[in-house]
Amino acid sequence: MGIYEDRLLPRMIDRLLASDDLAELRRETCRSLDGTVLEIGFGSGLNVPHLPEAVTKVLAVDPSEVARRLAAPRIDRRGVTVDFVGRDGSRLAIESESVDHVLCTMTLCTIPDVEAAVQEVRRVLKPGGTFSFLEHGRSPDPRVARWQRRFTPLQRRLFGGCHLDRDSVDLVIAGGFRLLETSAAYQRGPKIVSYFTRGLAQKP
Ligand SMILES: C[S@@+](CC[C@H](N)C(=O)[O-])C[C@H]1O[C@@H](n2cnc3c(N)ncnc32)[C@H](O)[C@@H]1O
Repeated sequence: MGIYEDRLLPRMIDRLLASDDLAELRRETCRSLDGTVLEIGFGSGLNVPHLPEAVTKVLAVDPSEVARRLAAPRIDRRGVTVDFVGRDGSRLAIESESVDHVLCTMTLCTIPDVEAAVQEVRRVLKPGGTFSFLEHGRSPDPRVARWQRRFTPLQRRLFGGCHLDRDSVDLVIAGGFRLLETSAAYQRGPKIVSYFTRGLAQKP
C-alpha cells in the first residue's frame, strides 16, 4: 500500500463518516447488541460511542493500523475492551459458532471477496446469532444505479476498493441469513453514494 491508501485515506474516511446523519444510523444499527460483538471493518471505531452499555467486549477485524490508532481515544472514552483479532473479514481466525453478534458498517462495499466474508460471518455466529449491518449501495432507481456502475472503477481506486453498486440485502440473503429488519433511504449527498441500507439478519 502507498502513502495515500495507507496513511491519508483512513484519516479522510474517519472525517467523512463521522457525520451526524450517519451517527443516528449507527445508533440504530447497534441498538440490539449486547455482550461480545465481532465487528468486521472496525476502522477508526466510529461505532464505539453508539454501542449500548450492555456491550462489554468488541472483537475487531480491520487491516488498517492508522484507523486503529484513530480509534484509541474513542475506545478509552467508552471504556470497552477491544481485542484486534484479524485483518481480513473474508478469513476469520475465529472458532465456528462462537459469536452472538456481528456488526459491519460501510465495509461490505470494500471487502474484495465479500461473499466469502458473509460466509465467514455466518460460520462464526451461533445459531440464532445476529448480523447488524449498515451499508451504502445500489440504488433502486435504475438511472442512479447505472451511474453507480460507471463510477465504481474510479471509486474503487480513490476509496480503497469501495464499490458503489453492491446490494447488502442481496448479499446477506444469498449468504443464508434470515432478514429480521431492513430500512433503506437516501441520506444527504450525491445519490450515487448516499443510498444507505440498515439491516438486522439472523443465522437460522
Ligand atoms: C469505509 S471504511 C468503514 C469503517 C467503519 N466500519 C465505519 O463505519 O466507520 C471501510 C473499512 O473496511 C476496512 N477493510 C478493508 N478491507 C477489509 C477486509 N478485507 N476485511 C475487513 N475490513 C476491511 C478498511 O480498512 C476500512 O476501515
